[in-house]
Amino acid sequence: MINENSTAFFLSITNGRKGTAMPPFGNRLSENQRWDVTAYIWTFWADQDSAGKGKLIYERNCTSCHGMKGDGAEISIVFNGKRAFDFTNLSAMANEHPSELFDSVTDGVTGTAMPSWKSELSENERWNVIKYAWTFQFKDYAIAPSQTPIPSTGIPSKNSIWYSTPAGAAIILISLIMAAGILYLFRKGVDER
Ligand code: HEC
Repeated sequence: MINENSTAFFLSITNGRKGTAMPPFGNRLSENQRWDVTAYIWTFWADQDSAGKGKLIYERNCTSCHGMKGDGAEISIVFNGKRAFDFTNLSAMANEHPSELFDSVTDGVTGTAMPSWKSELSENERWNVIKYAWTFQFKDYAIAPSQTPIPSTGIPSKNSIWYSTPAGAAIILISLIMAAGILYLFRKGVDER
C-alpha cells in the first residue's frame, strides 16, 4: 500500500485490470461511488489502531503548522509564501504515496519550515502519524480530530548546532574562563621571573 496512490486505485476500479480477473466498474458505479470505495480501501491500511496512536502524535507535534483538521486553515503562519502541506487537498493527496509522506516526515523538506522528525519519533511512530494524516481526506473516518488544541511539545530545530544549546553555551563559557585563568597565571609567572 505504501507505494500506491489513490489515482491508480481509482483508475483500476474504473477500467479494471487487463489480463486479470479485476473487472471494470466504470459503467456500474458512479464516479463518486468509485472514489468512496477507493477511500474505503485505504482504511484497511490506515487502520483505527495505528491511526489512533498517530492522532496523539499528530496533535502533540504537527498541529502548530498543519492544523487540527490537517488543512492548516486556522494557522496564520505562512512559510516562504507557502502554507504547510494541506492533507485535505484531494487533488494533491490523490497522487501522493504514503512512502513519500513518510520520507518527508523522516528527513524534513529542504528549503521549507518542515523539520526532520527522525530523532524525535521512532519509525513506527512516523508511520502511525502518516496513517492518521492520511485519514484527513476521508470525511467519515471514525477517528475525528480533537476539539481542543493539545499543547505542542515544541518543534525540533531545523539545524540544531551543539553550541546553540544551553549545555553548549555553558561549555564555551567555562572554556573561556579557564583560558583567561591560564593566561593570567602565565602572565603572573612571567612577571615574577
Ligand atoms: C514548523 C512547522 C511544521 C511542523 C511543526 C510540521 N510541519 Fe509538516 N510541513 C511544513 C511545511 C511548511 C510543509 C510544506 C513543505 C512543502 O512545500 O511541501 C510541510 C510538509 C509536510 C509533508 C510533505 C507533504 C509533501 O509530500 O509535500 C508532510 C508529510 C508533513 N509535513 C507532515 C508533518 C507531520 C506528520 C508533522 C508532525 C510530526 C509535521 N509535518 C510538522 C511545516 C511543518
